[in-house]
Amino acid sequence: MISKKAQNMPPFIVMDVLEQAQEMERKGRDIIHLEVGEPDFDTPQVIKEAACRALNEGRTNYTHSLGLPELREAVAEHYSSKYGVNVQPDQIIITSGTSPALFLTFAALLNPSDEIILPNPCYACSPNFINFLNGKPVFINVFEEDGFQYRPSKIEEKTNASTKAILINSPANPTGNLIKTEVMEEIAQNDCHIISDEIYHGLVYGEKEHTILEYTDKAFVLNGFSKLYAMTGWRLGYIIAPREFVRPIQKIQQNFFISANSFVQWAGITALKEAGEEVKAMVEIYDQRRRFIIPKLKEAGFGISVEPTGAFYVLANAKKFSLNSYELAMDILKKAGVAVTPGIDFGSNAEGYIRFSYTNSMDNLKEGMNRLKKYTADIYR
Ligand SMILES: Cc1ncc(COP(=O)(O)O)c(C=O)c1O
Repeated sequence: MISKKAQNMPPFIVMDVLEQAQEMERKGRDIIHLEVGEPDFDTPQVIKEAACRALNEGRTNYTHSLGLPELREAVAEHYSSKYGVNVQPDQIIITSGTSPALFLTFAALLNPSDEIILPNPCYACSPNFINFLNGKPVFINVFEEDGFQYRPSKIEEKTNASTKAILINSPANPTGNLIKTEVMEEIAQNDCHIISDEIYHGLVYGEKEHTILEYTDKAFVLNGFSKLYAMTGWRLGYIIAPREFVRPIQKIQQNFFISANSFVQWAGITALKEAGEEVKAMVEIYDQRRRFIIPKLKEAGFGISVEPTGAFYVLANAKKFSLNSYELAMDILKKAGVAVTPGIDFGSNAEGYIRFSYTNSMDNLKEGMNRLKKYTADIYR
């Protein structure tokens, strides 16, 4: 008999769209992919060379469960120099991606029925981790007109003795928006811990992102190499934790994962120290694409109230086309040959929205936007 936990784990709807799109491609249909949140760039050469070097030097064993001391130092140095915060290597746990970082942090914090506050919409997997660990996700609706930011007064209303943490993610998936400095400052005043998923840091266009550590020490920073360094398949991330949580997280890591991949950790040091130019070039290209698709989506009839200035997503209002985002996404795929993610994948409050990921070439984006414009024009014909 399959466990209740396994049975209750929701699927990731974006995968339905991707699989359907791939099926259509196998039958010869040309599809423009705007659904998956994965960089279309190859990992920078300097990082690949560092991994090859590490392999050739035989760096193929388990590492310390907290991660290579050299990488922990590089992460501490990165946060200290970029944000001017005091982060020491002994606060850092290296993980096999931000996903295990989420799991380990929730596992170290939650007793049964303990609550974590999250925005609705949010990254689809976060509440699933919490449920899996017998915690309780408590959602706060965030709205398009506020740039999908928390209203701090709403957090206050939902906070009680069972609240263990508030999850923030800025720049955010699925919205591409950043949390305003003053809102972050206010959130940091809460007595509970703040878990700040900073995986999209560095992917900002004209705005400066802030780490939660600028406002409070009672925070967990989760970050990874997947997005900024185009390293999704490498599986590398980290947690910066309050010191009293380092040993508990380490014990869970030892049991569940032992350590992150060793040669990948060596490549991670190079990513932090030497990939600046390549990253800058990728960020410039994302920004060109962002500036191209926002007006094109508006022209096609999608609503974008507050311009997203981070990550590589636009969450656009499609309510005038359909109130069922799953049906709409499937219809766009079928009729226009453009794969997009339905808002419902990210929470009930994103129903009626579509997420566009601009991790595709300018040529494909141009073609995709032409197809969408024609598709929406046909609805009104
Ligand atoms: C907000 C957010 N957090 C975490 C992750 C997981 O990333 P990783 O590849 O580091 O596990 C993602 C991936 O899409 C994400 O969007």
